[in-house]
Amino acid sequence: MTSHHHQSVMFNESIAGLAIKNNGIYIDATFGRGGHTQGILNKLGNEGRLIAFDQDMTAIDYARKNFNDERLEVIHSAFSNMHNLLNERDLLGEIDGILMDLGVSSPQLDNAQRGFSFNADGPLDMRMNQTSGTNAAEWLATASETEVANVIYKFGEERKSRHIANAIKKFQEDAPVKTTLQLANIVASVVKAKKNKHPATRTFQAIRIFINQELQQLLDTLEQTLSTLAPAGRLSIISFHSIEDRIVKQFIQKHSKQKQLPKGLPIMHNENEQMPLKNLGKFFASAEEIGNSRRSRSAILRIAQRTTKVC
Ligand SMILES: C[S@@+](CC[C@H](N)C(=O)[O-])C[C@H]1O[C@@H](n2cnc3c(N)ncnc32)[C@H](O)[C@@H]1O
Repeated sequence: MTSHHHQSVMFNESIAGLAIKNNGIYIDATFGRGGHTQGILNKLGNEGRLIAFDQDMTAIDYARKNFNDERLEVIHSAFSNMHNLLNERDLLGEIDGILMDLGVSSPQLDNAQRGFSFNADGPLDMRMNQTSGTNAAEWLATASETEVANVIYKFGEERKSRHIANAIKKFQEDAPVKTTLQLANIVASVVKAKKNKHPATRTFQAIRIFINQELQQLLDTLEQTLSTLAPAGRLSIISFHSIEDRIVKQFIQKHSKQKQLPKGLPIMHNENEQMPLKNLGKFFASAEEIGNSRRSRSAILRIAQRTTKVC
């Protein structure tokens, strides 16, 4: 599904994963340009309700201009405020499904002024929420070489992290790193180009994840979904790289696997011991979608369901 320059990835599969009930209450944690939001609204009845979050004001402005639907409430916020925002609305334990389509949107990537792209020159910002926080240029100006190397290694799994950090610090002896192309060129001076992959891909990914605290946001929010979902409520989560997917996988496993009893002990069938989640599986984009959209190649969708009885 294409919605004004953002092509929603694994659209049908992720919406199907929510098993939408006519009059249910749903969350789209990552509005973007509203592709998934529209998909959910299409399946909801008149009494249904959808709350959408995005921390990017341009996404919220887009929603306010283009979505006029009484069933939809759009909130400018990080999704990690989900628990509090739903508590304020008396909706804890009432949510029938939560969709998360992680990462950046195409409009964010395509607008050079946002600083996410190594292909076009712009200020090195990289904040999804431009109303607060430190941007990438400011952070690079104050971080030590070791800090920069650690971020690039941890969030980009980049083996050349130390060389890159060293090259950045050498550059900064003469001038600050202020633009995306400056950073892309510094990285390209120490990382060999690979077929189909810009040498700065991992470095940009790492700094973006760090600047937006993406993994912490995800960890915090996943934990909040347990108190948010109604019995049988669904989680449908699309991630785009292995570090993110690992977090989603481990969260679902932790809350869905029965504890192993020591060998020899009889298994007690105690209903109260039911785990809070049921793992409904892991899915990839179809060959057809992969043929049409590069971004969908790395997409992994995970679906889980809140169990009805919780200890
Ligand atoms: C991949 S896009 C979503 C696209 C959307 N599903 C669609 O079909 O148009 C991800 C969106 O999530 C937002 N986002 C990412 N992390 C967020 C967070 N922690 N809290 C709120 N919004 C976030 C980004 O600003 C971006 O607009």
